[in-house]
Amino acid sequence: MASTTLICDTEPWKDLKGHVKEIEKTHLRDLMADVERCKSMMVEFDGILLDYSRQRVCQDTIEKLFKLAEAAHLKQKIDRMYGGEHINSTENRSVLHIALRAPRDKVICSDGKNVVPDVWTVLDKIKDFSERVRSGSWVGATGKVLKDVVAIGIGGSFLGPLFVHTALQTDPEAAESAKGRQLRFLANVDPIDVARNITGLNPETTLVVVVSKTFTTAETMLNARTLKEWIQAALGPQAVAKHMVAVSTNLPLVKEFGIDPANAFAFWDWVGGRYSVCSAVGVLPLSLQYGFPIVQKFLNGASSIDNHFYSTSFEKNMPVLLGLLSVWNVSFLGYPARAILPYSQALEKFAPHIQQVSMESNGKGVSIDGIPLPFEAGEIDFGEPGTNGQHSFYQLIHQGRVIPCDFIGVVKSQQPIYLKGEAVSNHDELMSNFFAQPDALAYGKTREQLLGEKVPNHLIPHKTFSGNRPSLSLLLPSLSAYNIGQLLAIYEHRIAVEGFIWGINSFDQWGVELGKSLATQVRKQLNLSRTQGKPVVGFNFGTSTLLTRYLEVDSGVQSESTVLPKM
Ligand code: F6P
Repeated sequence: MASTTLICDTEPWKDLKGHVKEIEKTHLRDLMADVERCKSMMVEFDGILLDYSRQRVCQDTIEKLFKLAEAAHLKQKIDRMYGGEHINSTENRSVLHIALRAPRDKVICSDGKNVVPDVWTVLDKIKDFSERVRSGSWVGATGKVLKDVVAIGIGGSFLGPLFVHTALQTDPEAAESAKGRQLRFLANVDPIDVARNITGLNPETTLVVVVSKTFTTAETMLNARTLKEWIQAALGPQAVAKHMVAVSTNLPLVKEFGIDPANAFAFWDWVGGRYSVCSAVGVLPLSLQYGFPIVQKFLNGASSIDNHFYSTSFEKNMPVLLGLLSVWNVSFLGYPARAILPYSQALEKFAPHIQQVSMESNGKGVSIDGIPLPFEAGEIDFGEPGTNGQHSFYQLIHQGRVIPCDFIGVVKSQQPIYLKGEAVSNHDELMSNFFAQPDALAYGKTREQLLGEKVPNHLIPHKTFSGNRPSLSLLLPSLSAYNIGQLLAIYEHRIAVEGFIWGINSFDQWGVELGKSLATQVRKQLNLSRTQGKPVVGFNFGTSTLLTRYLEVDSGVQSESTVLPKM
């Protein structure tokens, strides 16, 4: 599919550019009055309902977006992904996170080899290990049951597992299985994160899971060495074998670190970090906390969406429709951001996870063939659960900038509450907002309405809502492990669709490298200055001044002895 033709040079792209003028003449108030239009913009699959009738589109726009998909060879690109071709061309790798949740009998090949049996070998090993830890047949160095887990990892080795953990925590079935256990995540190299995560834990009853695809990430490796020290200081060096395990693609480095390779859980280079939550990266810590059967349900939910994405026509294909709508909003209507607004506190870590999946995948400046893009790819993702977001940044969304919103709602709460005498249950109260906000954005409030309400003249401009602000709504039946898997896969594939249309490589991340290498230079300077009193050299004026100021003050630690948090 290598080509020097950019998507913006194709006729369907130009046609859509011209079509913007037509859409600009419309208002969502009028578009929403067309019931046939709205009916055609409802899509249902496996219990999930998508309503995209509040997007600034008419049926003609959708047809044109399908033509764009054809010009971008979207179907062929999806097939190439599922076929295990090396679509991550700059790293010469397949992109097969779909294999991580495939049933045992499925055949998915990378480099001519069916990878599904390898996936299941690791899943079986996780099932066995997590059951042994949970049942107490695997114990710590002093014979105590390991009831707490600290998962060390960052980026994709952290955000996905944290999102799923946070979502499962209040699911009754998952909560029951997790009774008496704790799962914590240590990500930031900030020593404060270490202090927070070890406070209240006893090394004797703690298992540390070091999660790193490469096993070279500076933050993770320093945190891993720190917790190794914490364990050794309390229990002696032999305790590491019982209290530390690893998840990585780099088993030689796991061994070099001092973790028994028998206690390492593998994954493969065809799993991108941000797409790795369904590998041992997420499955191991989550199985330790909730038990493997619950995690299996999460994998099944994701797998259901994988089949839907692969085999459903574009008209009814949720990730395809969502991806095309995002491209429409970003590249044609000129809205660079997207707000992810789950009306569920259990999904509070969903937006941070999708931030990485989306922004690391699609934040690119060149096409997959290295040609600078004359348009901007990627979108700025942010979000908070409703209703908290409503009392924070929704002012800007209603009357300031136009930010297309994803409203995510759940029919049945994980934790229903009803107070006798109240008009509605607590979940109905929450969901009243979920249903109201999209219409407030779409319809707005006119000057005429305000005059009818006798609003004083001087306040009319301040109280007017322009409306015509696009959103879409996703309604999930509940927030079980299965539904959480579905939601994850919908977004993963949606983001791939966007990248396929823009013609970029959504599976590499070269943009994170430069900052890392400059930090190496600073680290060297800090060491020389702290240990040998060497002056700051080789940096620009600003950085030298800041570094000098930083080094003037005693750091509170001596290089001759180990210091651990005192909390
Ligand atoms: O920040 C860049 C990155 O490479 C991410 O893509 C990745 O998820 C994260 O670092 C962690 O990498 P690793 O799992 O190799 O420690």
